[in-house]
Amino acid sequence: MSKEKGARSRRFEGGLAPDAEDVNASIGFDYRLLPHDVAGSIAHAKMLARQGIIPDDDAKSIESGLREVEGLLADGKLEWDPALEDVHMNVEAHLSNRIGDAGRRLHTGRSRNDQVATDLRLYARAGAARLIELVDKLRAALVTLAEQHVDDFLPGYTHLQRAQPVRLAHHLLAYNEMLWRDRGRLADARKRCGESPLGSGALAATTFKLDRESVAAELGFTGVTHNSLDAVGDRDFAVELIAAIALCQVHLSRLGEEIVLWLSQEFRFATLGQSYCSGSSIMPQKVNPDLAELIRGKAGRTIGSWVTLMTVLKGLPMAYNKDLQESQEPLFDAVETLDGSLRVAIGMIENLEFDGAVTRAAVDSGYLVATEVADYLVSKGLPFRSAHDVAGALVRSAIERGVELGELSLADFQSESELFTEEIFEWLDVARAVDRRDIVGGPAKTRILGEIRRIKEDLSSMRDLP
Ligand code: ARG
Repeated sequence: MSKEKGARSRRFEGGLAPDAEDVNASIGFDYRLLPHDVAGSIAHAKMLARQGIIPDDDAKSIESGLREVEGLLADGKLEWDPALEDVHMNVEAHLSNRIGDAGRRLHTGRSRNDQVATDLRLYARAGAARLIELVDKLRAALVTLAEQHVDDFLPGYTHLQRAQPVRLAHHLLAYNEMLWRDRGRLADARKRCGESPLGSGALAATTFKLDRESVAAELGFTGVTHNSLDAVGDRDFAVELIAAIALCQVHLSRLGEEIVLWLSQEFRFATLGQSYCSGSSIMPQKVNPDLAELIRGKAGRTIGSWVTLMTVLKGLPMAYNKDLQESQEPLFDAVETLDGSLRVAIGMIENLEFDGAVTRAAVDSGYLVATEVADYLVSKGLPFRSAHDVAGALVRSAIERGVELGELSLADFQSESELFTEEIFEWLDVARAVDRRDIVGGPAKTRILGEIRRIKEDLSSMRDLP
């Protein structure tokens, strides 16, 4: 039995030039497709037998042979050969070397073009499902942390300037909203990988009477593609998945940035277990929030993956072109980057410890309740613009005296407006100020408790993936 030579039949005189082989081979990255390639081949072989295209016994030895080859390759007991280019040729060559002619029948009615298109969709579907699960875990971790901090306050910021007080839980739950939208986008992208391209052949389908639908169903697809040219040349599903991933990673980068701020000596709002920080090689006192910085920094590569893929696809003529091999690494890198970042984000949220006294002190200084002064005057009939002006004057005089609004006397207030009574001091209470924002989407305690219930219910309702 001759050793399998991969795609290079006797049409060719020899092998590729060594430098060409390095650039041509994708095995260095497409080994990740192994489980999907094997699953696709088994489903294809079983269907070939059902359709009477290959003998039943051949399909059986293909299935057991493929399982064996998969295990050996995964365990490193069989070698990947770069001369065989890619995962598809490696698997098939190992199979044929073990089971002979039955293995050589596997590729009937199939091309590597519809094969790789199938494998990549299966990879994307599995990847999206895993990411959705991790997104939900992060949402659950945020809700748990929020529950512990319903009664803690935090300055709400705009322009990174202290603006108005909120409950810490409200701030944490803002991330749930971003992640909820990410979840929807990932699920949508997953839906778009739902059609099986198998049966599209190299570009013009096949003369063999394949049962495409049964193969699709066996592989967990929801249907089959409708145009063979498009099916082998399409990587839109990867573009969409990477776009969803990049946006989710951008959200994690915002969380990472906030964790960096909260841990800084300027803020001191929180501490984080040392398992998510590292030391400095020169400054012994330092504990750096490396992991928060990395999930922030990795947004760059996911955005880069999206740009890479879009640029690869731009201007490609129908149907398959080898450029498409370049669509794989951006997809793998984006999926793996977000996967790792979500795991780290979950760990950090689980280990983050806020110092309620420090966040409260931050709320109590900086005139965060100035809006309450204006609202008070509005409640007494003053137009908002005039009330805003009076409150501004009071803040200014408090700043000049180096005191907070609550430290001004009633006479001070009354010197700016006769509408002030002792009541104003109740209005300056932070909890009251926050709880007056009792509106859907607001930070009042009842609203926060309602949100926690709503999100928990959402997380516990079983949802089928598309
Ligand atoms: N490794 C190739 C890819 O990723 C598989 C398809 C090769 N097809 C071909 N006609 N050379 O695109």
